Amino acid sequence: MSKYRIAWMPGDGVGVDVMDAAQIVLDAIKLDAEYIPADIGWEFWCNEGDPLPERTIALLEDCTCGLFGAITSKPTDEAELELAPELKGKGLSYRSPIVRLRQHFDLYTNLRPCKAYPGSSLNYRDDIDIVVFRENTEGLYSGVEFHPFPQELREMMKQFNPAIGRFDSIPGDELAVSLRVITNRGAHRIIRQAFEYAKRFGYPTVTLVEKPNVLRETSGLMIREARKVASDYTDIELWETNIDAQMMWLLKNPDNYGVLVTSNMFGDILSDLSAQLVGGLGFASSGNIGDKFAVFEPAHGSAPKYAGQYKVNPIAMLLAVKLMLDWLGEIDMAQSLEDAIAKVIAEGEIRTYDMGGESTTLEMAHAIASKL
Ligand code: IPM
Ligand code: MG
Repeated sequence: MSKYRIAWMPGDGVGVDVMDAAQIVLDAIKLDAEYIPADIGWEFWCNEGDPLPERTIALLEDCTCGLFGAITSKPTDEAELELAPELKGKGLSYRSPIVRLRQHFDLYTNLRPCKAYPGSSLNYRDDIDIVVFRENTEGLYSGVEFHPFPQELREMMKQFNPAIGRFDSIPGDELAVSLRVITNRGAHRIIRQAFEYAKRFGYPTVTLVEKPNVLRETSGLMIREARKVASDYTDIELWETNIDAQMMWLLKNPDNYGVLVTSNMFGDILSDLSAQLVGGLGFASSGNIGDKFAVFEPAHGSAPKYAGQYKVNPIAMLLAVKLMLDWLGEIDMAQSLEDAIAKVIAEGEIRTYDMGGESTTLEMAHAIASKL
């Protein structure tokens, strides 16, 4: 029996291409694992009305962790149109499977390292080493949304906060509301993870990125929690910044920042900017990590127009494999994979199209595997 059972979820589009690249590297590194294919993706939405079928959840519950490629998602109306005829008009609604996985398995940490590897011409600067800790289960992703907005709810809310009264003249069907839900527990555990990481890898600061001057309650709660956690780490300084200004500062002085921690939606935005500083989505990996389970993925989407062409850069996926190896405690393997990736980038001979070359996804994977 293998040491690990890894759920294998290529999903859609280039998810398949980059997972083939992951397989090449995992075989070369000889991880003692069994890879178990799991159904997830657009095809299961169209044919079964669920892109993340129950059997996949059950399979994942029986695995050590999961590796995920990418998934296609479309706005509600378009998604409905592609359903099999017998599933149409049944009120099925598409919800992003990766968001569901994060919430179902309570994978509250979204870890997104953005490091500039020397030699990549795509680096905005070569001295960037940013790690985004994004809360992954609540905030604006909680799914507590209303449209039309019920009159009863409006009346009730008014008793607690008159601000909603400003919209009294707007009919319910012309009013959509999404709640940004932040809990003490949610704030605490993501901030704790960020500080622990800073401590382990010697980062002198942790920057909490929020917007407390406007989102007084939710960002306010995050800040109070951050100050509490920070008091346990006397060697690490807590910086508090606003999301808007932070985006500018990241462009101006990216080398000032190391560990950044924030709520779900801000983290989604901040991590794309951070990824672009080090070469874009072809370099951006993501770990969805809970206390007992985790799912690793590249941060890019399924890029349907490149599907099956083996053209996209697999480095994001391979860096996600590196995160997985770290999480499994296979620290030496993780390090040698990162070193191999860094070497291939530094040599500059094998480059995918985004890096200005013509190498394929699998040529990149083989080049990296050959350095292991
Ligand atoms: C990401 C993606 C997802 C998100 C989408 C695909 C739902 O943008 O992982 O950053 O918003 O979290
Ligand atoms: Mg995103």
